[in-house]
Amino acid sequence: MANHDEAWGRVDEFLGATLIPEDPALAEVHRSNARAGLPPIDVAPNQGKLLNLLAQLAGARRILEVGTLGGYSTIWLARALPPDGRLITLEIDPRHAEVARANVDHAGVRERVEIRVGAALQSLAALADEHAEAFDLVFIDADKQNNAAYVRAALGMSHPGTVIVVDNVVRGGAILDAQPDPTAAGSREVLELLGAEPSLDATALQTVGAKGWDGLAIAPAHRQRCPGKAVVGGCTFSATFQLPARTAQSASAWTAMSRTASASARSSAARHATAQSSSTRTASRAADFGSVTGNGTV
Ligand SMILES: C[S@@+](CC[C@H](N)C(=O)[O-])C[C@H]1O[C@@H](n2cnc3c(N)ncnc32)[C@H](O)[C@@H]1O
Repeated sequence: MANHDEAWGRVDEFLGATLIPEDPALAEVHRSNARAGLPPIDVAPNQGKLLNLLAQLAGARRILEVGTLGGYSTIWLARALPPDGRLITLEIDPRHAEVARANVDHAGVRERVEIRVGAALQSLAALADEHAEAFDLVFIDADKQNNAAYVRAALGMSHPGTVIVVDNVVRGGAILDAQPDPTAAGSREVLELLGAEPSLDATALQTVGAKGWDGLAIAPAHRQRCPGKAVVGGCTFSATFQLPARTAQSASAWTAMSRTASASARSSAARHATAQSSSTRTASRAADFGSVTGNGTV
């Protein structure tokens, strides 16, 4: 096929038709978003399914999403939760939130989903103030300029193994431009943060498809890197977050750790909202997590 874009779209269609059954509720999200004039910038169906599978693999009970639009990815993620699970999604545009609310209702996941309207940095600071329990998966898909700040705030509300997913980290290759636009610069900055932040172990994949050429980064939080070693069974938690493995520890120990992580997030997210310099924020993160101790392997 000569035209790459066309070929990518056709392969996406084939993957969708082959692997992802027709879903009336999700198809209705696309129609309702279009009727309301929302831009078609939601994740593709196969990406939505990937988010759903990641949440299932993480055994997620609590999910945080930054960037709701009409709730398409929200619904994919919410469907991975158990009945008592909870997803909080942050959206700056009240109109988008209104459309998302209707779509979430129609998809039957209203009980599990809370949509908070406002600038995500402020919502994250407020969330941290509430001593919210740590999240098991965080999906970041809003204004790319703030990607790095969102990851830092997410770290303050995560536990060892929390899966942080950042969308649109390649931007058609624009992240390598000599003078990238602010969006591409934000995507590049978050990749550099994921690579440099000691409490994250990350990878990123380029993606092509109906949504063009872009990419997705995935980073489990608070895990020590194990270069050259098998990760499973061979890697201890980082010095800043040494805790017994989840499978071996008591539920109360895990809950206590989650609360400690949430407490640290209060000050962290508040700082992010005031847009500190990145070096100050990195130093702050180390201080935030320094009080959590223990040991164990995963
Ligand atoms: C790419 S769309 C999200 C798509 C959605 N995750 C999906 O796949 O269905 C980005 C959304 O983030 C919202 N947004 C942009 N800046 C924001 C901010 N500072 N705080 C919260 N939401 C923001 C936009 O209004 C838009 O609805």
